[in-house]
Amino acid sequence: MKAIVFDTFGGTEVLHETEAEIPQPGTGQVRVRVRAVGVNPVDGKIRSGAMENIFPTTLPAVPGGEIAGIVDAVGEGVDRLKAGDEVLGWSDTGSYAEYALAAATVLAHKPAGLDWTHAAALPVAGDGADRALDLLDVKDGETLLIHGASGALGTVAVQLAVARGARVIGTAGPANQEYVSSLGATALVYGEGLVERVRALAPNGVDAVLDAAGKGALEDSITLRGGTDRIVTT
Ligand SMILES: NC(=O)c1ccc[n+]([C@@H]2O[C@H](COP(=O)([O-])OP(=O)(O)OC[C@H]3O[C@@H](n4cnc5c(N)ncnc54)[C@H](OP(=O)(O)O)[C@@H]3O)[C@@H](O)[C@H]2O)c1
Repeated sequence: MKAIVFDTFGGTEVLHETEAEIPQPGTGQVRVRVRAVGVNPVDGKIRSGAMENIFPTTLPAVPGGEIAGIVDAVGEGVDRLKAGDEVLGWSDTGSYAEYALAAATVLAHKPAGLDWTHAAALPVAGDGADRALDLLDVKDGETLLIHGASGALGTVAVQLAVARGARVIGTAGPANQEYVSSLGATALVYGEGLVERVRALAPNGVDAVLDAAGKGALEDSITLRGGTDRIVTT
């Protein structure tokens, strides 16, 4: 099969195409014929070597984690997936390849109405958003502030929070206000004066804060919550 590999840590110049053996699924794994791959920011951080303490990498390595594709072989002990199933999720062996192995437990069935490229964009941001909302324990009827609502993580988080029944206030840049509204949130511009703008919309306070921007939002979040309780930051 064709695959992209890197033999040393570095920038994009270390990536090259190669011919590799088609991998065989082990116990609990399936093999996926890859149809689309997510190119996630974390792929570049792993390729650079900066993530070695968290995700140790054996070189040469195939980059990437996010896959969408069709199951074409099933390892021992897997009964929830079968050949021909359309799935999205996480690869164990790297996703930038024609075939990838994945643990059956980290794959989900792809909804029929979702195309391959959108499916491959979901796993990391979707998992991050879902876990953050669980950590915050966001409930029906609560008010949630999401910083960075127009970003990859924020886009998914707004929709999942609205689906939980929360009222969402979402921050974004001026160009993305309409977009954030279209996701189901009340949109606000981030930056100076944000605390006052949020208080005007939620005079009784916000119940929880998800900082999906990852920068510049923590201090305002603590001010709005009156402490660090029910704040999650990326
Ligand atoms: N992408 C993923 O799969 C993923 C998964 C888990 C965790 N994360 C983490 O989540 C964070 C965001 O990643 P992302 O991929 O979602 O990034 P992204 O798509 O670039 O989105 C960044 C968001 O932050 C907003 N923003 C930019 N400058 C800001 C500022 N000064 N104050 C407040 N908001 C600001 C942007 O608004 P405008 O664009 O409207 O200006 C946008 O909504 C990072 O820390 C990342 O490591 C990402």
